[in-house]
Amino acid sequence: MSTLNFAIIGTGGITLQNHLPGLALCNDVKVTALCDANPATLETARQATGAEFTTSNWEEIVARDDIHAVIIATPNVFHPPIAIAAARAGKHILSEKPLALNAADAAEMAAKADKADVRHMTAFTYRFVPAMRYLHHLIKQGDAGMIYHYRSCRLQDWGTRNVGWRQQRKMAGTGEIGDMLSHRIDFGRHLIGEYKRLVTSLVNHTPVRDGAPNDTDDWVGLLGEFVTGTTAFMESSKLASGVNESWRSPDRVELNGSEASFSFTTGCWNELQFGKLGGPGMAALPIPKEFYVWPGSSRDPGVGDPLVSFRYDQAVEFVNAIREERPCAITLDDGAKAQKVIDAAVTSAETGQWVELN
Ligand SMILES: NC(=O)c1ccc[n+]([C@@H]2O[C@H](COP(=O)([O-])OP(=O)(O)OC[C@H]3O[C@@H](n4cnc5c(N)ncnc54)[C@H](O)[C@@H]3O)[C@@H](O)[C@H]2O)c1
Repeated sequence: MSTLNFAIIGTGGITLQNHLPGLALCNDVKVTALCDANPATLETARQATGAEFTTSNWEEIVARDDIHAVIIATPNVFHPPIAIAAARAGKHILSEKPLALNAADAAEMAAKADKADVRHMTAFTYRFVPAMRYLHHLIKQGDAGMIYHYRSCRLQDWGTRNVGWRQQRKMAGTGEIGDMLSHRIDFGRHLIGEYKRLVTSLVNHTPVRDGAPNDTDDWVGLLGEFVTGTTAFMESSKLASGVNESWRSPDRVELNGSEASFSFTTGCWNELQFGKLGGPGMAALPIPKEFYVWPGSSRDPGVGDPLVSFRYDQAVEFVNAIREERPCAITLDDGAKAQKVIDAAVTSAETGQWVELN
């Protein structure tokens, strides 16, 4: 295959911030078609890409023979119908997270893409953080020993502003748990394995945001257990006033094992904190340079804001998997498994009970 023709469906925030600069890093890739429900947003993306075909109807994109791959970056409710139609039409699929509004739809996306034998990927962008990749490498080689605890804390200040479709359950499925905690649910699976059971609290402190109803959670606390026996303790909030609302706000992952503890914050993209059993305490552990960029990426880690630019490697991985005819590092199956955990968390929050997963 020479030039890969891409279509992007949903050309809002994440497409401009992440998908377009990511595709720009890839050789022989052309953004041929764009789709967005909002004409002004579509025009901004058209000007940025020079795409020849634009439409507000995603079915017209899926029907085109000249499109090899689609990126789905719409509100969550539209991911399943678009992905399933794209798989049927033989397009490779990169879908934003959370994959769907429920686990059944997410599983169907993964199954249909597998059946169509196309490459497929879930945009769990934080898998590309250099420090998280190094942490995964160290854990898999056994440096933490038996892992007792997996912990994450993501705090942002979104105040009470209207966050659009994100505050409508019928469009988003859930609030903070799907929007932010889904990344950490996935990373827990990646590091440790499948979840066994969990109990969750989902709290809506802001039923009205800037005059508009909000029926989603803006705080989530999840206590869980992996099949390995490792405990999971995770928190995520949109209402941590004053801490900043972007990737510069507090975002930590910690692990305590029988041999050592590790932690990282997204703000320190090229460093972990590390402490050995019985040692003097946590100290900085710089990550080796080979982890600065994703294998196969031509990105210069010295260019741009390192808290943003690691995200561009996601498109590189997708394109390389298509060219190399191999599964993507993070598939729709990973997205579907995370969705199953989200569904279990919602059930737990509704019933006040522990929910078994495996
Ligand atoms: N991977 C990450 O780190 C990350 C970060 C941000 C957002 N996201 C995900 O990306 C997706 C989009 O988020 P966003 O922040 O870009 O939202 P956004 O609101 O900025 O953009 C969504 C776009 O989809 C368009 N749209 C709505 N309905 C449509 C339809 N039926 N057909 C075509 N276009 C339609 C909207 O007009 C809008 O331009 C969400 O699933 C979100 O969870 C992922």
